[in-house]
Amino acid sequence: MVQSCFNEEYRPQFHFTPENNWMNDPNGLVYHDGVYHMFYQYNPNGNTWGYMSWGHAISTDLVHWKHLPIALECEVDSNGNVMEMFFSGSAVVDVNNTSGLAVSIGKDRNGKDIFSQPMVAIYTSTYPTAHTTSNGHVIRQGQQSQSIAFSNDNGLTWTKYNGNPIIPSPPPDYADQYNQFRDPFVFWHTPTLKWIMVLTLAMKQIILIYSSKNLKDWTLESQFGPYNARFGEWECPSLFPLYVDDNTAAEKWIILIGINPGGVIAGSGTQSIIGSFDGKTFVADPSEVYDPAKVPCGSTVFQDFEATSSTFEDLGWTGTGDFVGSGPRKASTVNGGKVKGYLGNGIMTTYLFGNIGTGTIASPKFTIRKDYISFLIAGGYYPYNPATAGTPEDNQVSITLVVDGKVVHSQTGTNTETLVWRSWNVAGWIGQEAYLIITDVNTGPSAHIHIDEIVFSDIPKDEANWNDFGPDYYAAATYNGLPTSERTVIGWMNNWAYANSIPTSTWRSAMSIPRKLALKTIDNKVRLVQQPVSSLSTLYTSSLYSRNFSVLECGETKVNVPAPYNTRMKVALKFTRGAGIKFGVILCSNASNTQETVIGYDFLGQNIFVDRFKSGNSSFVDSEQNAFPGYFIATMPTKSTDVIELNILLDWSSVEVFDGKGQVAITSQIFPLDHGAADVKLFSEGGSTRSVSVSIHGINSVWK
Ligand code: FRU
Repeated sequence: MVQSCFNEEYRPQFHFTPENNWMNDPNGLVYHDGVYHMFYQYNPNGNTWGYMSWGHAISTDLVHWKHLPIALECEVDSNGNVMEMFFSGSAVVDVNNTSGLAVSIGKDRNGKDIFSQPMVAIYTSTYPTAHTTSNGHVIRQGQQSQSIAFSNDNGLTWTKYNGNPIIPSPPPDYADQYNQFRDPFVFWHTPTLKWIMVLTLAMKQIILIYSSKNLKDWTLESQFGPYNARFGEWECPSLFPLYVDDNTAAEKWIILIGINPGGVIAGSGTQSIIGSFDGKTFVADPSEVYDPAKVPCGSTVFQDFEATSSTFEDLGWTGTGDFVGSGPRKASTVNGGKVKGYLGNGIMTTYLFGNIGTGTIASPKFTIRKDYISFLIAGGYYPYNPATAGTPEDNQVSITLVVDGKVVHSQTGTNTETLVWRSWNVAGWIGQEAYLIITDVNTGPSAHIHIDEIVFSDIPKDEANWNDFGPDYYAAATYNGLPTSERTVIGWMNNWAYANSIPTSTWRSAMSIPRKLALKTIDNKVRLVQQPVSSLSTLYTSSLYSRNFSVLECGETKVNVPAPYNTRMKVALKFTRGAGIKFGVILCSNASNTQETVIGYDFLGQNIFVDRFKSGNSSFVDSEQNAFPGYFIATMPTKSTDVIELNILLDWSSVEVFDGKGQVAITSQIFPLDHGAADVKLFSEGGSTRSVSVSIHGINSVWK
């Protein structure tokens, strides 16, 4: 095996990566005796997914990690057949030895045994081959069952429990889901003095809740879902309490759910739902659940595409190219009936002759009078890219909003055939004339778009509470063993849409920076907020750049950040709206800006954005899952006098962006090609920005 040196191209310097090989989900996060354990999905044999095992690392501060030997290794028979893989799960320390898995580690003064506190891993056994286990379980091909293993030396060596699997199959009503039943997250529930397990029936978008007195015998208590983002597989659930606004008397429970595909961009995503839990049932707060069949109260319907016997021209819309003379279609007749999630019967679609049709369909002009435009959208991921729009390289399949001749908002499909809600904040253009244009200039795989129910409203129509609005934050798991006020989460900083082909070697995939979670009331709504763990600041260099501008003029201002910190730094920005329309920072750029990652705030669109269209290499994605290039937004309305705060972490091949309150985050991988050019530039677009304060610190490597 090639020995890694932790300075290979793109190797993160302050994010966790395995020394070599493939990694996905964080598993078994548990804090015990001053040590943070992190296990993770790991392939000991290569740097693509396979031979799933649990890797292991430990830390005392969540930023410096020590790699340890593999904890649970994929089992292969003498013919090389994989017999058992160790899929995602969790770990607990059984301090009261409820499981009876402790061992004597000595005697006390009275000669009585002193027992260990066993660390117990609860994971999914995935069996690729049909067989009968040594303890008599008949296993079907592809079966997923829940199992446990225990360690009496703090996670270094593990023994599989001889009664495994402890939950061989899903409940009888879901018996056919025997191969989609996984990812147990277990924790101790003090009020009921029981262990609680949440896991998913992935294809049903259902979370099952079990309880146990001893970690071995489990009773099904209830089920939850599907809710909100629910059109892919649900994986890696977590359930945990947090205090609202630090008030220990105001506890709420949060369910975190991975969804893939069907994430906010395309591929993988993470959503959360706030509610209550009584030891048996999780009940979502009503305000947390979005009914996809309802438009916001007081909405004006601009176009519902119900007139399926009319042409677009009859409706005042204009088609070009192959869409001249076409009109709304009955959704049930489109793409062999695969389209789901529409309202009524009719939709607008560019799937007229398979993916072959190209052209545009433009709405009549209208005056913007409400703060939000919302619509249902599905189809392939081919975003509008301002640099190529209208050129021969244009491959967009998108809906855009045009004001004053300029595209001010755009949205593409998320590589699904189920329509989902998306909303644009248009408060910045109230009173102005606008139109919508649907563009499909692509004939590639899934190159079509479906649109339905375009409404104007005062509030957005959300699909889900996205935990992160970027493409690269998945399978988020939280630490057991910490007090409620220190609940800490780590996500896998990748996306199944392209994870196996990102251009890194000898390892593949990094974890997100660990983030502390809290519930905060912001604008009268209780929200899940997150901030990088405070220990990250121990890695900061002294200030590399610190400046205040009462007015930052329109244009770009170069900032000198010396290597190596120009590829790993923290940028803190504070600013207030001026005459300009966007403000932010350009990272990893060259002099001509042909390579750049742009991060900022859009004062008109009221969102934080990360633009990775020109971030570097994106050629590794295959054409079916073209989901790498993009412009990612997190809507965060502000007033013109507000001080807006952005904190940005750059670590060579990733950016993580948090607003000052931690209410939105955007996590995105980038693969800059031109390493010599890692310029940092502030920019103010369309005019000046006021009261700008910029503070930049380098971040020291944790591997040196
Ligand atoms: C999520 C996931 C889990 C599964 C694991 C397998 O990324 O698909 O559902 O347990 O990865 O590696």
